[in-house]
Amino acid sequence: MSLGSAAASRLSGKTILITGASSGIGKATAYLFAEASGGEVTLILTARRVSVLDSIKTDLEAKYPKTKVYPIGLDVSKLDAIDKFVAELPVKDIDVLVNNAGMVHGTEQVGEILQSDIDIMFQTNVFGLIALTQKLLPIFKARGKGDIVNLGSIAGREPYPGGAIYCATKAAVKSFTETMRKELISTRIRVIEVDPGQVETEFSVVRFRGDKSKADAVYKGVDPLVAEDIAEIIVFAVSRRENTIIADTLVFPNHQASAMIMHRKS
Ligand SMILES: NC(=O)c1ccc[n+]([C@@H]2O[C@H](COP(=O)([O-])OP(=O)(O)OC[C@H]3O[C@@H](n4cnc5c(N)ncnc54)[C@H](OP(=O)(O)O)[C@@H]3O)[C@@H](O)[C@H]2O)c1
Repeated sequence: MSLGSAAASRLSGKTILITGASSGIGKATAYLFAEASGGEVTLILTARRVSVLDSIKTDLEAKYPKTKVYPIGLDVSKLDAIDKFVAELPVKDIDVLVNNAGMVHGTEQVGEILQSDIDIMFQTNVFGLIALTQKLLPIFKARGKGDIVNLGSIAGREPYPGGAIYCATKAAVKSFTETMRKELISTRIRVIEVDPGQVETEFSVVRFRGDKSKADAVYKGVDPLVAEDIAEIIVFAVSRRENTIIADTLVFPNHQASAMIMHRKS
């Protein structure tokens, strides 16, 4: 069997829930799951921008007529909303959870970081991810298998100046992920972490509070990864044989060797 057809048969019939599916890595992952499964998946796509999710549904279902897409508004930083979201899931039997929603605000150094930025980064990247995972884990445990994919970052492995809070949130994701993998050792639930380096998405626009010129400067003289590069890693990991766990992946563009070491063309 070819790599592609093996992946398609392993993905076929799965229900996949992706947080932060309105943009960047989450959106690209939704498209790639549809493509790699031969269209035979159900996608529950969540984010705050529901109108964006609605157009993704229209586009995906036109391209892949056998794919069923449920676009659902979910702000993962609002822990009460998570309870309601899980209670009202249109399909309960989730096979794959991709905890992708995440964000960074600012580059201020310790002593100058706004409390509101600290709160929103922890609420979104850590508390929301933990709350959703805890609420959905009983579904995985009842079935005894499934995949939980958490988006970490090089920032969770190597803190850098101006990133104290974002780095701390991603270090928390790493620690949470590794604990869960150990706790679930007696099951067939796979716990997977993907840690990207520099990927050009809306991430930097959000970091610089909508200032596109500052965001563009981040990618000047370098050739960053694109969202599809990370989607390929996520879909590859989930479509391995059930006994194979791509536990942890660090992904850089070619010009990057660490959070701080990058080669820029002058
Ligand atoms: N880009 C990079 O260089 C990079 C590197 C390492 C790790 N990552 C991680 O990769 C993940 C995806 O980021 P990206 O690069 O694809 O950025 P992006 O293009 O900004 O996408 C972020 C997604 O998260 C959603 N989101 C943000 N806050 C949310 C909230 N409170 N509730 C629900 N959804 C929320 C956004 O949707 P709405 O605005 O519609 O809610 C959007 O769909 C993040 O966890 C990020 O930390 C990115």
